[in-house]
Amino acid sequence: MNMSITPLKIQSFPAPDRRCGKGTGERPIVSMRGVRKAFGGYRAVDNINLEIFPGDFVAILGPSGCGKTTLLRMIGGFLQPDEGAIEIDGVDVTKQGPAQRPTNTVFQGYGLFPHMSVRQNIGYGLKIAGRPKSEIDQIVDLNLGLVRMTEFAGRNIRELSGGQQQRVALARALAMRPKVLLLDESLAALDLKLRQQMQSELRAIHQEIGGTFVFVTHDQGEAFSLANKVAVMNKGRIEQFASPSEIYHRPATSFVATFVGEANVFKCRRDNGVIALTEDAVFQHSGPSGDVTVMVRPENIKLLKDGSPRASEISLKAKVADKSFQGSFTKLSFIDDGGREIDVNLGNDADLARIQIGEVVTLFWPANSMIVFDE
Ligand SMILES: Nc1ncnc2c1ncn2[C@@H]1O[C@H](COP(=O)(O)OP(=O)(O)O)[C@@H](O)[C@H]1O
Ligand SMILES: [Mg+2]
Repeated sequence: MNMSITPLKIQSFPAPDRRCGKGTGERPIVSMRGVRKAFGGYRAVDNINLEIFPGDFVAILGPSGCGKTTLLRMIGGFLQPDEGAIEIDGVDVTKQGPAQRPTNTVFQGYGLFPHMSVRQNIGYGLKIAGRPKSEIDQIVDLNLGLVRMTEFAGRNIRELSGGQQQRVALARALAMRPKVLLLDESLAALDLKLRQQMQSELRAIHQEIGGTFVFVTHDQGEAFSLANKVAVMNKGRIEQFASPSEIYHRPATSFVATFVGEANVFKCRRDNGVIALTEDAVFQHSGPSGDVTVMVRPENIKLLKDGSPRASEISLKAKVADKSFQGSFTKLSFIDDGGREIDVNLGNDADLARIQIGEVVTLFWPANSMIVFDE
């Protein structure tokens, strides 16, 4: 099988049907208002308000069971919401089925027809739509090329690897040129190398053909690498909808902060505008008195070699508990006086090699690298 990494050559071609092309202006292509869905009293999706704009590549990110698939199925028309409304391209589709919507879904597990060839699978939707055979052949060829499966056109689905089936499922959905392409954990079954390759191909395909992609994943790295906007879901709700950089650097909630990337979390109190992480690590922070969660990322913490920290820095003493080489960096685990674990990621320099387990060092970080959440 040919899975070597070569740049994609994508031909542009005329719209195969009226569902093609980018949406217009600043009107959202997908708009969800107050959408809820419960299963036997359990709120799988709870009051979703979401606007997706034409050309967006949106990732719906969250842990298993948080409601991602349920949300996607409601956009695709496979499930009806209990409450709320869904508009796609200015049309209220809340009560419409999948066939009436300008969407196509690539399901988890691909959902290919096992008794059909690759070519027949990709052309299936066009055939159902009554398109002439010559046109179907042309569109199938173009989409086979798009996912680099041209040489497998005549194969049976059962003769393909998981990664190849993935490509066929993608080509089948792309062949319809949906205004909104919905993908549910589409790369999850692939091994790491192939997954990364498919991520970059998916980005290239999106850039080349345009349209709006909505991709469900539980993998933060995948969401960040694919999407220009990420909706972080927790327990049926969207906790933040923003760019990957904003989600990472300015998480809206402590759930987002800890789900996305690594985080050191301190549970403490704010009293009269002062937060004390420990007896020594004290800083001013305005807000009501009460419980707070303070977050600092491991890459923002450094070891103090000499001198004392600046006023704009927080410092505390901690003992080295563990040290593990991670390739491009080393992860150090510390325990402070209060028994709290603090993780620090450091570049592999000579100083690092001298640090011994059991040694007590001073850690410091800029005060403005901390994020405080009121609980
Ligand atoms: N058809 C269904 N019947 C009953 N419960 C369901 C059904 N579909 C999903 N759920 C429940 O709804 C919750 C959200 O599921 P799902 O949307 O599949 O989550 P995710 O895709 O984020 O893993 C889960 O608790 C799941 O068990
Ligand atoms: Mg799911």
